[in-house]
Amino acid sequence: MGRLVVVSNRVALPGETRAGGLAVALQAALEDRARQRHGGLWFGWSGRIDPQRSGKLHQANADGITYATIDLSRRDHADYYNGFANRSLWPLLHFRMDLVDYSRETWAAYRRVNALFADKLAPMLHDDDLVWVHDYHLIPLAALLRERGVRARIGFFLHVPMPSSDLLAALPQHGRLFEGLSAYDLVGFQTERDLERFQDYVRLWGRGRVVAPGVLETAGGRRLRAGAFPISIDTAQIERQAAEATDKASVRRLRESLSGRELAIGVDRLDYSKGLPERFRAFERFLQRHPAQRGKLTFLQIAPVSRGEVAEYRALRQELEQLAGHVNGGHAEPDWTPMRYVNRNFAHPTLTGFYRMARIGLVTPLRDGMNLVAKEYVASQDPEDPGVLVLSTFAGAARELDAGALLVNPYDLDGVADAIAAAMRMRAPERRRRWNAMMDVLRARDIHAWRRDYLAALATAQSP
Ligand code: G6P
Repeated sequence: MGRLVVVSNRVALPGETRAGGLAVALQAALEDRARQRHGGLWFGWSGRIDPQRSGKLHQANADGITYATIDLSRRDHADYYNGFANRSLWPLLHFRMDLVDYSRETWAAYRRVNALFADKLAPMLHDDDLVWVHDYHLIPLAALLRERGVRARIGFFLHVPMPSSDLLAALPQHGRLFEGLSAYDLVGFQTERDLERFQDYVRLWGRGRVVAPGVLETAGGRRLRAGAFPISIDTAQIERQAAEATDKASVRRLRESLSGRELAIGVDRLDYSKGLPERFRAFERFLQRHPAQRGKLTFLQIAPVSRGEVAEYRALRQELEQLAGHVNGGHAEPDWTPMRYVNRNFAHPTLTGFYRMARIGLVTPLRDGMNLVAKEYVASQDPEDPGVLVLSTFAGAARELDAGALLVNPYDLDGVADAIAAAMRMRAPERRRRWNAMMDVLRARDIHAWRRDYLAALATAQSP
């Protein structure tokens, strides 16, 4: 068994506060291998912009893992990251054709940066490495590595949704882009639905065929394996962390500030896929439709600014500021503000303390590959007095949490408003029953199971 090599646009460098669950999982996967003396490598963008040129390489080592990252020039950052990745692919993969901004120039930059990744990475790879590439920024990477003579097994995991095939086909160059997936030995999706939609695409637009479930043949006769691997969280660790966070000063302060009222919480990157304007409006609808519950619930939305250089994200930020002002202006009382809207980020342990305090977790994206906030909210609850998860049916997590969450359609404002009211009324025995049903899933399929399952499938996937 060789090394594990993780490739992703963002790299969690040693010593940096690790924001997401994914960083924790990949770190654990790399450390596992390092302990078995195989070592590991994590390769990606340094997060830095070099005014001159792309490609300056940085290397760091910690605990048997090498971190190799490259800088991007301002232009590549603008055209590859802000451009093709986040203004063409991101909206397309989240079913938002209306927001897709395609240009040949950014497509060329996307290919160029992927080729640069391949140029720098290929000489570092050995034949017995297991290479695991993450997310929509790097779809062409395997094909480019193969062109450079790499023979290692290479797997891909798409963290975001795979949309319907006719949407994919609206992207100029879709054939070239998605044909590139056939250079991987295993392509992983979040849910069976994503896998099915990709299989449809291969059949309907790729001139390929589905040989057996999860075994695809492309127009060129290449076979590739594809499967669903729902990503998850470190359930046991979050349970512990949330229980311990109760005593944190910031968590105590939030509790005191509520003056005995219930809390509904939402935590999302400020992104149009998260359905935030709809959520704000649904909360207002709740205030209008359920006057008896007015003044008994405060809604806290935490939304750290994301991709702030992209026009659509800036426009969304403005819209939300206006909406939050509108809801509070229309409904606040001298001693109660219905909603609090915060753009800063919080340390992960603090967030789990906030989740535990919240009677309601509002996770209502219009589209989401999985949504780990939904899972973390559940794992953070007090088993004796758990809160209620209000979850969009369009989040990947809805497939696993449907036995316990109140599933809603985020476009149906009345429906979301009524789910909030139902969560407020729900008694402890039902809350516990629902919570236990979700925890059974989260305990059985945590983040470590996810990466072990994926890597086991990749290790046995047919070689090209
Ligand atoms: C999503 C994507 C990730 C991405 C993250 C943060 O979860 O699937 O690939 O890293 O958002 O976005 P950013 O653009 O800041 O890396």
